[in-house]
Amino acid sequence: MRELKIQPIRNGTVIDHIGNGLALEVLKIIGVQNLDRDSTVSVALHVRSGKLGWKDIVKVENMELVPRKVNAIALIAPTATISIIRDFKVREKRPVDLPDRIAGVLTCPNGNCISNQAEPIESEFEVHRRRPVVLRCIYCERLVDDFLHHLS
Ligand SMILES: Nc1ncnc2c1ncn2[C@@H]1O[C@H](COP(=O)(O)OP(=O)(O)OP(=O)(O)O)[C@@H](O)[C@H]1O
Ligand SMILES: [Mg+2]
Ligand SMILES: [Zn+2]
Repeated sequence: MRELKIQPIRNGTVIDHIGNGLALEVLKIIGVQNLDRDSTVSVALHVRSGKLGWKDIVKVENMELVPRKVNAIALIAPTATISIIRDFKVREKRPVDLPDRIAGVLTCPNGNCISNQAEPIESEFEVHRRRPVVLRCIYCERLVDDFLHHLS
């Protein structure tokens, strides 16, 4: 009975254990403006958490996240867990995880990079370091650790 700060949802996605203050970035990634008009989005900021001290939580009705969005959340909020709710029950719960390669999620900060030219070349990064995460552009080798400002 600890976490009744948000009304239960019948179907949807819960993104829990988001680092304190990062829920608004997660909402930007989800793109709440594109949701179904019957989907309520609930956000709790600064919730007490045993593991994290403080955390944020986002619950979205009638939505499941495509892998690309999960990858973006993994970059911004690496401690997050994603639970799929169906008929009020947790059907699946997993930590966000970062694959070795991430395509299309970030824009390369190097303006001269081929992924920023008119050609239809999608950005792609590989994980250069994991803790803390540093990515490397596979085209120009630019390193990126400031993901917030480079989300596509
Ligand atoms: N029907 C529901 N509507 C909204 N949120 C839900 C619902 N059922 C579970 N949740 C949320 O989904 C997440 C996972 O649920 P679970 O019961 O596994 O949580 P938990 O026991 O708090 O575990 P942990 O915090 O370790 O992930 C939690 O954030 C919980 O608050
Ligand atoms: Mg919990
Ligand atoms: Zn590049």
